[in-house]
Amino acid sequence: MYRSHDCGSLRASDVNKEVTLAGWVQKSRDKGFMVWVDLRDRYGVTQLIFDEERTDKALLERAQKLGREFVIQVKGTVIERESKNAKMSTGDVEILVKELNILSESKTPPFTIEDNTDGGEELRMKYRYLDIRRNPVRENLIFRSKVAMEVRNFLAGKDFIEVETPVLIKSTPEGARDFVVPSRMNEGQFYALPQSPQTFKQLLMVGGMDKYFQIVKCFRDEDLRADRQPEFTQIDCEMSFVEQEDVLNIFEDMTRHLLKKVKNIDVADFPRMTYEDAMKKYGNDKPDIRFGMEFGELDAFAKAKDFKIFNEAELVVGIAVPGANSYTRKEIDKLIDWVRRPQVGALGMVYVRCNEDGTYKSSVDKFYDQEDLANWAKATGAKAGDLICVLSGPANKTRTQLSALRMEMAERLGLRDPEVFAPLWVVDFPLLEWDEDTERYHAMHHPFTSPKPEDIDKLETDPGNVRANAYDLVMNGNEIGGGSVRIFDKKLQALMFDHLGFTPDEARAQFGFLMDAFEYGAPPHAGLAFGFDRLVSILGGQETIRDFIAFPKNNSGRDVMIDAPSAIDQEQLTELNLKVTL
Ligand code: AMO
Repeated sequence: MYRSHDCGSLRASDVNKEVTLAGWVQKSRDKGFMVWVDLRDRYGVTQLIFDEERTDKALLERAQKLGREFVIQVKGTVIERESKNAKMSTGDVEILVKELNILSESKTPPFTIEDNTDGGEELRMKYRYLDIRRNPVRENLIFRSKVAMEVRNFLAGKDFIEVETPVLIKSTPEGARDFVVPSRMNEGQFYALPQSPQTFKQLLMVGGMDKYFQIVKCFRDEDLRADRQPEFTQIDCEMSFVEQEDVLNIFEDMTRHLLKKVKNIDVADFPRMTYEDAMKKYGNDKPDIRFGMEFGELDAFAKAKDFKIFNEAELVVGIAVPGANSYTRKEIDKLIDWVRRPQVGALGMVYVRCNEDGTYKSSVDKFYDQEDLANWAKATGAKAGDLICVLSGPANKTRTQLSALRMEMAERLGLRDPEVFAPLWVVDFPLLEWDEDTERYHAMHHPFTSPKPEDIDKLETDPGNVRANAYDLVMNGNEIGGGSVRIFDKKLQALMFDHLGFTPDEARAQFGFLMDAFEYGAPPHAGLAFGFDRLVSILGGQETIRDFIAFPKNNSGRDVMIDAPSAIDQEQLTELNLKVTL
């Protein structure tokens, strides 16, 4: 038996017990006649004591030679500590060691295995197995596991069945680039790794599975950000004989269940907002609604005067930043520089100080009087002490810029509290999106998304304004999940392919299998997929998904620990009939 207890479980009530523990040497303190060692495992830390008087000298000398991260096993007696440590769950006791076995020696680790380590990101990625020994990383992984268990509990309770779908497939039309895998047995041909199991889950509905889910790896060759990894995990779900409301209700319940189980938080309100409203009020299809600063459109008040910039703009729009009238002139100038950065791209910013005495002072006082500015304040909901920030220009661009400013101000004012959760559904997304590069429409979600029946007529006349039965689950300014009601009628599906610029032959070559399946009785169906890594990191109060993935890729898509991707040898290339020219 390697151990009788783990390193997190011994308490004062265990005093005088003979125990065996095993774990890693976190640190040791050597007083010459006495050595203390902190022994660590997944469950906690227990203090060991080696004492010349109470044990033997040879044992003490061996303890003195223990290095950090040695793996040891000790046998000894639980004794009460003289100086107790209230911060440790095992802080009332220590183990008076009588026997020490070194199970594994360790080189000095390249960074300290402490909560606040001295290791940089890249170094910790290279030695990820050491990083995982640190509390914050380990706790994130345990948290992830707990969320996954709760997802399975909830969905199993609702009769969902977990089905595995293949990983070696044909391109899925999700919009990102595919990772491809050459086939040895089929010369010159490639599999693609799934961007999502979208088509398979729809086939499972044709197969009568009724309620499907899968916690599944997906692969997308896209540029990486804090909330994106080339391989990530989805909670992928699909249901038959349901409408949009049924899907929203069940996954709203699941989100509530998770918040309750893993955070002990009750979320009563779960608003639904149309895409159009989200863009108008927040300039963003994933609004963070933990705080206000809703957009106020100022066209009606701002365009009536002689200020050319506003008169020529498609949209004049502002936000009231709470309490920011305290900003000095210099600080406001810095803010103007901030909105002018290429990443934001505004040409400038007009501002209005809302004074405590009810007067206003703006950067455009030449053009606007107190009455005008009072109207601006009303439209943006500004109160005394606030600063109104106003941007103008082409409508969509300006909304995006103001959204960036809103998020930045919220961050600076500490309004993005990670322990507050504000989920919502954004619904009625546009079906199609104009792509400037290819000069044609693309499916905003994917080609199997159903248009709103009342908008189908507009497919011919006004395709950009056709709304879809598509929805996103948004939490704290992040897109946690997305899905749609699917097309299950083969005629409508053919019409969609046509509008997306596929010839019938192209559509058949890519999606023939799905169109064929729809010939054999397809049930109405709908579903969604949660980004599991995102869900876990937001629930965990963070926005970097890497910290919740055991072995993530770095920003260049590399695994620096195993050194992948890497070249393969000539023999392998020949076998795959591949030629690499660089
Ligand atoms: P979608 O493409 O919106 O929908 O993806 C669903 C959710 O997956 C997460 N996600 C990612 N997470 C980490 N890294 C990435 N690179 C990444 N890309 C996406 C997001 C997103 O909301 N098949 C459809 C779902 C459906 O219609 O049922 C799909 O994949 O949180």
